[in-house]
Amino acid sequence: TRVLVLNGPNLGRLGRRQPEIYGSLTHAGLREHLVGTGEGLGLDVEVRQTDSEAEMINWLHEAADEQLPVVINPAAWSHYSIAIADAVAQVEAPVVEVHLSNIAAREEFRHHSVISAYVTGTITGLGASGYDYALAHISALMESEET
Ligand code: DQA
Repeated sequence: TRVLVLNGPNLGRLGRRQPEIYGSLTHAGLREHLVGTGEGLGLDVEVRQTDSEAEMINWLHEAADEQLPVVINPAAWSHYSIAIADAVAQVEAPVVEVHLSNIAAREEFRHHSVISAYVTGTITGLGASGYDYALAHISALMESEET
C-alpha cells in the first residue's frame, strides 16, 4: 500500500527550527526514518513537505483520486485553513493528523485544529514517533480490510 506523509509549512526546517519544541531530527532524517518504518510495515511511504498551500491541496486531491491513506502534519494551517480542511475532507482512505508538539499545552491559538473534524484520528505531543504510530495504525487498518 502506498501512503503519503504530508508535512506543511516550516517543517522543512526541522532540526534547525526551535529544536527544544520540534526535536533535532531534520526533515531528510525524518523521511529516511519513515521510509524504513514503512518497509517494516509493508507500506510504500512517500514523505513530502511544502510551504505552499496550493501544492498541499494538489497532493490531497491526488490522495482523494488515488484512494491513498495519508499522514498529515498541517503545521500552522491546522489552526486556520478551511481550504486544507476541505481538501482533507475529500480523502476517503484513512487520514491521521500528527503534531510533533503537544498543541493543547501551548499557546491558545494552537489548541484548536480546523482539520481534526475530517480525520480518522490525531496524534499530538509524541514527537517524530507520532508518525510511526500513525503508519502502524494505517498498516493495521489495511490488514484488517484484507481479511
Ligand atoms: C505543529 C504545531 C503547529 O502549531 C505549528 O504551527 C507547527 C508544527 C507540530 O507539529 O507540533 O508548525 O503542527
